[in-house]
Amino acid sequence: MPDLAVITGTTHGIGRVTARELAGAGYAVVMLCRDLLAAHEVRDEILQKIPGASIDPITCDLASFASVRAAAAIVRERYGPIRLLINNAGITTMKHRLSVDGFELNFAINHLGPFLLTELLRERMAAPGRIINVASRVHLRGGLDLAGVRSVPRRFNSLAMYAQSKLANVLHTFALARRLAGTAVTANCLHPGVVASNLLPRWLRLIKPLISPQTFDVERGAETTLFLALDTSVARESGKYFDEFHMVRPALATAEDVALQEALWEASTRWVGLSAPSC
Ligand SMILES: NC(=O)c1ccc[n+]([C@@H]2O[C@H](COP(=O)([O-])OP(=O)(O)OC[C@H]3O[C@@H](n4cnc5c(N)ncnc54)[C@H](OP(=O)(O)O)[C@@H]3O)[C@@H](O)[C@H]2O)c1
Repeated sequence: MPDLAVITGTTHGIGRVTARELAGAGYAVVMLCRDLLAAHEVRDEILQKIPGASIDPITCDLASFASVRAAAAIVRERYGPIRLLINNAGITTMKHRLSVDGFELNFAINHLGPFLLTELLRERMAAPGRIINVASRVHLRGGLDLAGVRSVPRRFNSLAMYAQSKLANVLHTFALARRLAGTAVTANCLHPGVVASNLLPRWLRLIKPLISPQTFDVERGAETTLFLALDTSVARESGKYFDEFHMVRPALATAEDVALQEALWEASTRWVGLSAPSC
């Protein structure tokens, strides 16, 4: 039986390349995507390159707790131990929007959905196993306003909301690694580089190579995720933030604040409807 990799957001960008490379490395890949039709197209594309690969798309809209719960239930029911759980999917929004559950959409999709998914699958992780959160260097510009994620702001700051959600990825990773200490499961997060994907607004994608010579294509953008997933040198690393060159880097000092990590964990647990804070 091939080892199992569960990854979110494989219809485009970094996740699409990551899923293909994991299939190429011999993993059975479960792709959690909100657009099942697009996910099947990616599956067919991978199968053309890697005949016989095991790739199963499952519907999962990270903007909806109900959808995340349904997807996690399918994974728990159909599959055995998970070797790799990769929280890759992410968005940015130019306008203020709330998820169906009433949370600011960057925070809902980039943090709360992956947090719930991870908690629902955590006990199904194989030993050894790796949990990887695709964060961003933009977290360095983030602050956490837990009171604000359910209210309508007077002025919406797109970058601040994205940065907050990516800071939440780093806080989540560090708190998760603490909970996993002493087990064979690791948790790390990363910045993939500035990647010319759908995430960047079209106008920014056009000028990005001019202002940032190190804009990566999606193939290069997937490299750090794949490094954390596959490289033996990081098998025991946990609770770290890696940059796009596979180097451990200091995260924002705020992300190291254990009290803030725990405040986010407690609020997230309550908001996603998990009964008691897990430890
Ligand atoms: N691109 C960069 O420069 C950059 C830099 C730092 C960090 N990152 C991080 O890298 C990760 C991947 O981003 P990318 O650049 O590859 O972006 P992308 O090309 O826009 O791909 C994002 C993926 O996430 C999926 N997704 C979005 N909302 C979803 C939802 N509600 N439920 C499930 N899946 C959803 C998308 O699905 P659809 O096809 O349905 O939209 C798509 O497959 C993100 O976490 C992002 O924050 C990117």
